[in-house]
Amino acid sequence: MSTLTTSREWLALQAHREDIQTVHLRRLFADDPARAERFSIEAAGVFLDYSKNRVTAATMEALMALARARGLEEARDEMFSGAPVNITEHRAVLHRALRARSDETILVGGENVVPGVRNVLEQMRRFTDQVRGGSWKGYRGQPISDIVNIGIGGSDLGPQMVCEALRPIGHPRLSMHFVSNVDGAQLADVLNRVNPETTLFVVVSKTFTTQETLRNATSARSWFLDNGGGQEDIARHFVAVSTDARRVAGFGIDPDHMFGFWDWVGGRYSLWSAVGLSIALYIGMPAFAALLDGAREMDEHFAAAPLEQNMPVILGMLGVWYRQFFNAGSHCIAPYAHRLNRFPAYLQQLDMESNGKSVTRDGRPVSGATGPVIWGEVGTNGQHAFFQLLHQGTDVVPVDFIAPLKADHALDDHQLLLLANCLAQSEALMRGKTADEVRAELSATGMAGDELEELVPHKVFPGNRPSNTLLLPNLSPHSLGALIALYEHKVFVQGVIWNINSFDQWGVELGKRLAVDIVAELRCDGLGHHDASTRALIERVRVSLKG
Ligand code: F6P
Repeated sequence: MSTLTTSREWLALQAHREDIQTVHLRRLFADDPARAERFSIEAAGVFLDYSKNRVTAATMEALMALARARGLEEARDEMFSGAPVNITEHRAVLHRALRARSDETILVGGENVVPGVRNVLEQMRRFTDQVRGGSWKGYRGQPISDIVNIGIGGSDLGPQMVCEALRPIGHPRLSMHFVSNVDGAQLADVLNRVNPETTLFVVVSKTFTTQETLRNATSARSWFLDNGGGQEDIARHFVAVSTDARRVAGFGIDPDHMFGFWDWVGGRYSLWSAVGLSIALYIGMPAFAALLDGAREMDEHFAAAPLEQNMPVILGMLGVWYRQFFNAGSHCIAPYAHRLNRFPAYLQQLDMESNGKSVTRDGRPVSGATGPVIWGEVGTNGQHAFFQLLHQGTDVVPVDFIAPLKADHALDDHQLLLLANCLAQSEALMRGKTADEVRAELSATGMAGDELEELVPHKVFPGNRPSNTLLLPNLSPHSLGALIALYEHKVFVQGVIWNINSFDQWGVELGKRLAVDIVAELRCDGLGHHDASTRALIERVRVSLKG
């Protein structure tokens, strides 16, 4: 593939960037009364207003020309066809098969994977019905009251985020707990709150080799055995989700109580598979199916809509625009829904583990910047923390505002206040406030002269700060499924433009490897080859551990 930054389409965008540099969004809105309508789109129940971006019709045209020239349509079709697009691991990338219709055929190595997906969903249905219905009993004959999901990364963030988001439809008897960190404080706190007689541990690990998960699962099992459970009761209290039945059996979990998935499901794309077992236990299989339906609708939109009217493509290309041509090193996610408080963390893994790469698919250094830092916090909390920087700081930080329109509670007025704040923030970022407007405002309060002029620069907002607004009808399984799939595909779009492999994560390996060495060194007195800083730190930790 040709070098991105020397391509004709790239150079055209670069020239266009010069044209648009001095154009204020206020001006663009004033010049085009149809701007909001022109730059809005709806798909799978998600409404996107992207009119508050520093773009014109010419910008969007040039961005789509770049997308075409980079082979986005072909790359999407290739991924959807089951080809091994994860080239460094020789794997297909088929999260979309997890939400495919039962009569679809999706081939991997000549085999249709859809029946296997359906079988696992059926296994999940049988199990979740038993647990939710109360016929799956703990070792003293009582129904399960607490579910502890033990996993990390993709085996934690997605299930946790969705359970939190859909709490109003969670089973009233079930309390959900998520343990990911190898810091025992997290597990200890959960174990202090639950009763071994009525707790089900769901151990989730694609590889079943992850240090944190195996340590937490081993400690949970010891706690269970030390607190009344017997060896013969483990089968009723521990189930596993993994691609590796041999390792699950080796750990001591009955393979009959294992829910499988496949190597063509990436960890950060896995909540739709058996990795979502905790979700299904909490919200039930019909609601889990609705989550899959929402995602499938977004898949169908992504697969079929022309690039110009394709929501993941639009979001992805806007991200490329800011990352490359405005040097925007970060992207803020601001959900105006408290139940989406884990969504920024979920997107951090999805986006940064996928696109935090600096070599192209053919192993050469990338020619420009790749994935931005993803961060964020729910509104309105973020407004009272970091929004100052978004409004008046020196960097351009694009923001995604995400808001479900309908609340799932009956507290009067809260939803109106929440949504008003959401709309106000995007308007303020876009409009800003000029020096003349500040002067007029201050004069109206009676201020004048030097006192007024000294204050003016501090109260000026530059505006022209870009944002997207995503509105969902409500926070239902269907709309949440569509929203998550939207971001999955957005990340894919950007990976194609940058010509990187969005589906491997070699960058997490080195630290893991070194940790294994240091664990061994902390356990004995030997010391391997380390720099002076790490050596001294190891000595210090060793003394503390012995003390
Ligand atoms: O360390 C990164 C990672 O491999 C993620 O990609 C993955 O989601 C997480 O660890 C957990 O992996 P596993 O599900 O195999 O335990």
